[in-house]
Amino acid sequence: MSRESDFYLRRLHSLLGVIPVGLFVAQHLVINHFATRGEEAFNTASNFMGNLPFVLFLEWIIIYLPLMFHGFYGVYIAFTAKNNVQRYGTFRNWMFLLQRVTGVFLVIFIAWHVYETRIQKALGAEVNFNMMEEILSNPFMLAFYIAGVLAATFHLANGLWSFAVTWGIAQSPRSQTIVTYITIVAFLVLSVIGVQALLAFVV
Ligand code: HEM
Repeated sequence: MSRESDFYLRRLHSLLGVIPVGLFVAQHLVINHFATRGEEAFNTASNFMGNLPFVLFLEWIIIYLPLMFHGFYGVYIAFTAKNNVQRYGTFRNWMFLLQRVTGVFLVIFIAWHVYETRIQKALGAEVNFNMMEEILSNPFMLAFYIAGVLAATFHLANGLWSFAVTWGIAQSPRSQTIVTYITIVAFLVLSVIGVQALLAFVV
């Protein structure tokens, strides 16, 4: 691949990670949080999202196509990246490695999650509070879902830091440190929202 096309593909990969994939993930976790208000509140919120006009078109344009590009190109980046953790054990090197590890784990988690929910819905199953309650009653699946949510919130929050650097938003060491703190807060807030929603199906 030429250097120029590689540059544009990397930029597209970076942009799609935030818009629309990152925005979708944040929205998805917030809607799931309705589970903490009970079965009816969750089903109403989830039905509203599932019955939006042109929902199939919106799903493909906002979720599947951008996520597939970001995910598949992400696997390519993850396996061609040079990890320096052993030589330089700095915080940023660890974040760089974890960004790739969580990305690869997310391919597996998202594939399973989509199979278990959206594909089952297409095959006629009803995706609602009861279905998630049943899935998460298995402790192994609960642990898998918690790991998936934490991988997604870490990957998104840490990705926002590298996005800010990639696009020249945070250039000086001081602004990069400030963005580190902002993204740590984003990670914690999104993680609490995501994990609280999961636990609402089991207690
Ligand atoms: C939950 C869905 C996902 C979200 C919200 C997301 C979001 C992001 C964001 C915001 C970035 C930062 C872009 C930048 O560095 O400028 C990023 C980077 C990255 N993502 Fe994802 N991503 C997701 C799924 C995946 C998947 C499934 C993979 C597959 C391996 C992946 C692999 C990567 C890699 C390797 C990077 C680092 C790119 C670089 O340093 O140049 N991501 N992601």
